[in-house]
Amino acid sequence: MIGVFDSGLGGLSVLAALVEALPQADFHYFADTAHVPYGNKSDEQIQRRVLAIGGELAGMGCDLIVVACNTATAAAVQALRTRHPQIPIVGVEPGIKPAAQESQSRRIVVLATESTAKSTRLHKLIRDHADGVEVLIEPCPGWATHVEMLQLDDPALADDIQTRVETLLAKGVDRFVLGCTHYSFLAPLLTQAVGKRAQLVDVADAVARQARRLAGHLPHGSGRLHLHASAHPERLRAALPLLNLGHLAARVV
Ligand code: DGL
Repeated sequence: MIGVFDSGLGGLSVLAALVEALPQADFHYFADTAHVPYGNKSDEQIQRRVLAIGGELAGMGCDLIVVACNTATAAAVQALRTRHPQIPIVGVEPGIKPAAQESQSRRIVVLATESTAKSTRLHKLIRDHADGVEVLIEPCPGWATHVEMLQLDDPALADDIQTRVETLLAKGVDRFVLGCTHYSFLAPLLTQAVGKRAQLVDVADAVARQARRLAGHLPHGSGRLHLHASAHPERLRAALPLLNLGHLAARVV
């Protein structure tokens, strides 16, 4: 049984990749919708939520946990590993390394929540893996909330994306790293704004491959998906088709 969680809907982008990589596995997905967004909260607040959710997932019998949230990973994956040393825990971190390796202009940007943008963990990741490539960090307040409210066609969001993308392209950026799992659902808008001038970098598939490596020893399940949320659990299933994840609905028990 694999536990996956996020502050809300964003982690469903990681869940989709996990289901594709591990179609037989059983999943528990937990959305912390009573506390979303995490991106404007303190490390202590995020740690408290992550430890509480990790405890719930462990209690449900999860023998692998995927923290499908960059903000929660940056602030609390270490605390979660310390609390559950017997459970393998996979975090999600922005794809600095692949983006830096692929960049021609040697200038890339990470789009992230305010919390991730100022985290020690992101700065260390850049120090260790940017390999001399310049990394700009762009906090994007409000983007995750738009996804959470399923307001993907709000013109104000499209304008904000367009303005930020143009400014970053003018600075010579050629890779846009999606440093928040909610932003995967903004990929169509971002791709439209970026055109052929740069590429997006998303790590959902890489995270799923890492989870598959670690899940190798787990017993096979029957491809079931349990959805949980700390507020409005009914919204989660209803959101699946609206996020182009209607195929996951058939697995929900
Ligand atoms: N989905 C989360 C991330 O990957 C956080 C969004 C939020 O709650 O602010 O960072």
